[in-house]
Amino acid sequence: MAHNRFFPLHSKITKSKTMIQRHYFLLLLLFTLLHSITASSSDAAYPTVDDDCGCGASSTDDDLLLFPERNEVYGNGRIIDISHRYVSDMPSWDSKEGIGMFIRLFESLKNGSMANFSEFKLSVHSGTHVDAPGHVYDHYYDAGFDVDTLDLEVLNGPALLVDVPRESNITAEVMKSLEIPKGVRRVLFRTLNTDRKLMFKKEFDTSYAGFLEDGAKWLVENTDIKFVGIDYLSVAAYAEAIPTHLVFLKSREIILVEGLKLDNVKPGLYNVHCLPLRLLGAEGSPARCILVK
Ligand SMILES: *[C@@H]1O[C@H](CO)[C@@H](O)[C@H](O)[C@H]1NC(C)=O
Ligand SMILES: *[C@@H]1O[C@H](CO)[C@@H](O)[C@H](O)[C@H]1NC(C)=O
Ligand SMILES: *[C@@H]1O[C@H](CO)[C@@H](O)[C@H](O)[C@H]1NC(C)=O
Repeated sequence: MAHNRFFPLHSKITKSKTMIQRHYFLLLLLFTLLHSITASSSDAAYPTVDDDCGCGASSTDDDLLLFPERNEVYGNGRIIDISHRYVSDMPSWDSKEGIGMFIRLFESLKNGSMANFSEFKLSVHSGTHVDAPGHVYDHYYDAGFDVDTLDLEVLNGPALLVDVPRESNITAEVMKSLEIPKGVRRVLFRTLNTDRKLMFKKEFDTSYAGFLEDGAKWLVENTDIKFVGIDYLSVAAYAEAIPTHLVFLKSREIILVEGLKLDNVKPGLYNVHCLPLRLLGAEGSPARCILVK
């Protein structure tokens, strides 16, 4: 089998790695050898399959053994993915139906196309996402304060993950009690939403925990926090959603990061990295967010 022929050569390459680095010529020789072996094998492991257009990868029995890995952490736990996977059953603002079918294959190999091409249609405020000032201020929206104008320096850097008391929404009093030191610029607030696994429930739940307006005011007036992260679709409690957003976004200095996945992460100091898409004119964008230890 081609696999068996490949492996001895592969281990030889690995063992003599440092030597190879010094002997580029030998490396070239090995690869030439490897290429000639794999290219010439058309046995059971690499069967020749007639392909109509000859343009795409053909499937073989081996494909049945292909299982993609999906991870929540990488590098032995050093990198933690705090973004939610986009799935049709994830909650959508004010909806019972979830985000629904948001991605479709509009050209596929099976239909004779050269490759698979998908397109997606999604609210920019779905899943793990950021809010730009234009979200709640029409004059900011008109002036172009979209997600493309958000400061990547704010979205990337040291961040504190804190647990907020579970018995109330985030009020001024709660904010005071957290005693977040001056100088801390990025905070991920973990709430009852994580315990209730709300981001994993299809039906939107208006009873989620979030900031009340006075909590937002307290944060703006008494802390250096510019990155406000939370574990459901809005940093603001439903009852005060708009006034609270107005308080946070007024100065255009604070970035709201919503729908974070904060399960199974210890509270403490991390480096956060959030990268929204450069959607010109959009007041929100899905973002990939990770914590690095
Ligand atoms: C591809 O083929 C399937 C099955 O015949 C059909 O339902 C689908 O609409 C086709 N898609 C395109 C883009 O032609
Ligand atoms: C292409 O899309 C089809 C569905 O039409 C899927 O079964 C197939 O695995 C895809 N192929 C690749 C190479 O992703
Ligand atoms: C937070 O506020 C919501 C209304 O927006 C309410 O339903 C919920 O019970 C409050 N949560 C807590 C823990 O008090």
